Amino acid sequence: MAKKKELWSGRFAKRLRPQVKAFTASLPFDRRLALHDVRASLAHARMLGACGILARRDLAAIERGLAAVRREIERDRFAWSRDDEDVHLNIERRLTALVGDAGKKLHTARSRYDQVATDVRLWLRDEIDSGLDRLAALERALLAQASRHADLVMPGFTHLQVAQPVTFGHHLLAYVEMLERDRERLSECRRRVNRLPLGAAALAGTTFPIDRARVARELGFEAVAENSLDAVSDRDFAIEYCAAASLAMVHLSRLAEELVLWASPRFGFVRLPEDYCTGSSIMPQKRNPDVPELVRGKSSRVVGDLVTLLALMKAQPLAYNKDNQEDKEPLFDAADTLNASLEIMAGLVSGLRPDAKAMRAALAQGHATATDLADYLVRKGVPFRDAHEAVGRAVREAERSGKDLASLPLATLKRFSASIDADVRRVLTPEGSVAARDHFGATSPRQVRQAIARARERLKGRGSRA
Ligand code: ARG
Repeated sequence: MAKKKELWSGRFAKRLRPQVKAFTASLPFDRRLALHDVRASLAHARMLGACGILARRDLAAIERGLAAVRREIERDRFAWSRDDEDVHLNIERRLTALVGDAGKKLHTARSRYDQVATDVRLWLRDEIDSGLDRLAALERALLAQASRHADLVMPGFTHLQVAQPVTFGHHLLAYVEMLERDRERLSECRRRVNRLPLGAAALAGTTFPIDRARVARELGFEAVAENSLDAVSDRDFAIEYCAAASLAMVHLSRLAEELVLWASPRFGFVRLPEDYCTGSSIMPQKRNPDVPELVRGKSSRVVGDLVTLLALMKAQPLAYNKDNQEDKEPLFDAADTLNASLEIMAGLVSGLRPDAKAMRAALAQGHATATDLADYLVRKGVPFRDAHEAVGRAVREAERSGKDLASLPLATLKRFSASIDADVRRVLTPEGSVAARDHFGATSPRQVRQAIARARERLKGRGSRA
């Protein structure tokens, strides 16, 4: 088959070297912008028609042609050609094949620079919406578990050492807060993604009397990019998205890390749903937490995507440079990774089964209510530093006799402070400990239930598409 001329062949005597063609092509990865490209082209053509730049007959032909192109793409029948370097040229070539000369008029008052920036923004806006839905779905899964286990006591850790009792519900709510901030970040990022570059043309604007506000309205953009040079060249919106996605992935990675630890028999705090675990090809007993491990691993990719885009941008002079073609793969990867991870984590979290006995056993090993005993002494009038000292000595005695602080006999406890009475028992239990932390933001079951109600309120009407 004879090779087609490049769409920009007019100025060139020589054909493009095949190696160069392959090196400069973006078609293998930018094809996924195809439907957004059609959408943006339709809005552009309609604006050209409305402004009298394109004849009514030509507009009708373009609309008909783009509808046919869209159908071909949707049915996976579009014949992509490596002869054209990217998705934009492929679609324009096909349009022209379908409707003739009218197709060649579509690119009036437009360049591929403002075109690609528009397509990527449209695409990213959809990905953000899907991410927002998935964040909400994961929050709901965490809230359902938190509400089921608002009273369940487990050790809270600092330095991965048993610190104080917390409720399982409270622990899960910590992740709800992180994810809620991720939702805020993504929503704010969406506002800046949602600005229209089209009309900037190559870099300076166009000589045609275009109506950019009309295009923005038709495509659902909240604003028109103010400066044509900036509109075609900056990718800060993609960088910002990757930064928000990186943070969300870091949050997922921390949750994943805890699930891996908790599912290990050494902790035994949770059982992961069996259909999310994998076996080993050699060790018949294994039940491996591959899913959270992969989420933890994939977080590093998204951080890498962010760094890639930052480095891509930093030394580019205005306006567009071909460097920017390299924005797509990291951006696509970040969105794919985040959205897939959010979805799988929601399923995993929904199927978690905590093991109350294992949690209680761990609590009985770390003198988890030592702070409660010190606070108790303070309430009896002992200065906090003295109380801390007395309890420290009691813990030493407990370790010496191989017991937990909470199980020392009253007589023994009294040796360390005369202020200790029989009413200390409840203070030393995990239930007493969590119930006593009963203020806004703390771990008591009452507070946890109120926090769940507030979180559900925030989520109302959010992410219903998930
Ligand atoms: N494929 C390019 C990109 O992804 C857009 C086309 C710009 N290239 C050009 N030589 N006009 O950024």
